[in-house]
Amino acid sequence: MCGIIGYIGHRQAAEVLLHGLSQVEYRGYDSAGMAVSNGKDLRILKDQGKLRDIHAKHNFLQLEGGIGLGHTRWATHGPPCERNAHPHYDCSKRVAVVHNGIIENHRALKAELEKKGHKFSSDTDTEIAAHLIEEELKQKKPVDSAVRSALSRLEGTYALGILIAGENRLFLARRHAPLIVGRGKSDEMFFASDIPALLGYTRDFILLNEGDMAQIDSKGVKIWGADGKEASRPPLHVDWTPQMAQKMGHDFFMLKEILEQPITLASALSADVSEGVKLLSGAKRPAIVACGTSYYAALVMQYLLHKQKREAGAYLGSEYASWHTGQEDVVVAISQSGETADTLSAIRLAKKEGAAVLAITNVVGSTLSREADATLYIGVGPEVGVVATKTFTGQLAIIYKLAYSLSGDKKGMDALLQSPAMVQKMLDSIRPAVRELAKLMSKRRNFFFISRGIGWPCALEAALKLKEITYLHAEAYAAGELKHGPISMLEDKVPVIAIAPSGALAAKMESNIRECKARGASLVVLSDDETIRKEGEHALVMPKVSEDLVPLFYILPLQLLAYYMTIELGRDPDQPRNLAKSVTVE
Ligand code: G6P
Repeated sequence: MCGIIGYIGHRQAAEVLLHGLSQVEYRGYDSAGMAVSNGKDLRILKDQGKLRDIHAKHNFLQLEGGIGLGHTRWATHGPPCERNAHPHYDCSKRVAVVHNGIIENHRALKAELEKKGHKFSSDTDTEIAAHLIEEELKQKKPVDSAVRSALSRLEGTYALGILIAGENRLFLARRHAPLIVGRGKSDEMFFASDIPALLGYTRDFILLNEGDMAQIDSKGVKIWGADGKEASRPPLHVDWTPQMAQKMGHDFFMLKEILEQPITLASALSADVSEGVKLLSGAKRPAIVACGTSYYAALVMQYLLHKQKREAGAYLGSEYASWHTGQEDVVVAISQSGETADTLSAIRLAKKEGAAVLAITNVVGSTLSREADATLYIGVGPEVGVVATKTFTGQLAIIYKLAYSLSGDKKGMDALLQSPAMVQKMLDSIRPAVRELAKLMSKRRNFFFISRGIGWPCALEAALKLKEITYLHAEAYAAGELKHGPISMLEDKVPVIAIAPSGALAAKMESNIRECKARGASLVVLSDDETIRKEGEHALVMPKVSEDLVPLFYILPLQLLAYYMTIELGRDPDQPRNLAKSVTVE
């Protein structure tokens, strides 16, 4: 997957680009390059291979100037080699372009441009964009209108960065491919395909909408929406530091990975889900397969699809062979590692029976992504802790985006896009209370988690988190099921942790909470509603969120609870006994 970074400001651009590109290496790439301008002339250096080797061979830092674009390429059109590496020039070598995505009408555009005398020097679809801009500039239009007219000719998907010689600004545009703008502290601006690329410089971002085009100069950003009108987009402040795979002062990776979820969520939300929409919109009998935590994400997806009246079954990877119907036409496989043997067996069976496979994973180049017909990457960066935290919420982010794109639910999508900022606020405010609660709870030995509706998969995941790292007994139930058996266990202040948001299911949850209290259980109630919270011996104050988003928000304090209880018990949350990050046996 291609990585992109753009910079304009008082520093040497090549230094910033080199650092930024090194932060997105985990995406996987086969070549890299950059274009730098001193405001008048521009130069490109690029090659096949790893960033450090290209740098050792060519020395990117010889490129002087404060305006630049960098790129890591993951080949789609044309083999990996110097001539196909980005950036690409137009004929006059005054326009440099970097791109992630696929320009679907590149053949027709290339033929048209060749007729006009343009000469192409690569096999890529990307180069078309540089020549189209060159053509528009010949019409003596204002530069921003020339760029906009050129972009309006492109079909397909793109995140584009554009540098034009003589211009003290950079242009960028996105359609179904991630691209974010970063605001520097003083007289410098950035853009990138991934938030981690810019964390060494800024934590203030602007997330662009699909179809947006923007211009950055050293002072700020100007954005045009898909309708061509000037637009403003909400800022996102991420309160975190750069090093993705270091503990960042925390004792354990798990805490670091829980706390960075506002950032990783924003990264996941900027993913392009159009391939998924394409596959699922025509599906008659979709199925979802996954294991462990990913299976609980699958249950959330099943719930959202059912709400849209789409039939979809969620299956455990290891059970798919026994429970499938053989009629499934699209199988969505969810796996953070992309290597889980049970999930891979399920998709192999489904493929044999003629189904198309859509993968949702975090790992570029994983077996699942290679065997699937299309892959949606959650892009949350490496998860070092063995138990899933940020990959779970990353999976949820993609699932919500996919579901809302399928149904065209604009309100749902707007609420979803606001979630990283809300998650940040919630984590900040709730942490001290969870820590205190963990001190008390670590003295107990058996736990029940209950909820209803879309909260139920969240209860399942919360119980799994707790048992994975504390080795204590924890079970989750749909709240209505308690009275059908488990209620017999509720004596002697057994903790029952209730996920009880306000809304249509609140009254029934309240009754279930009372049933537990009447049997001597000790209730911990998570709710945005004070009346429900008062039913608990302990309570955590939650923000009010839409019903759909309950798992995304309510899992966070419960991840923290499992973490802090593990610390109280003196155990290692990063490497729990008997567990592996990637389970490659059936
Ligand atoms: C292992 C991990 C779990 C994970 C499960 C599925 O058991 O320890 O955290 O949920 O595998 O993994 P996947 O990579 O397919 O999501």
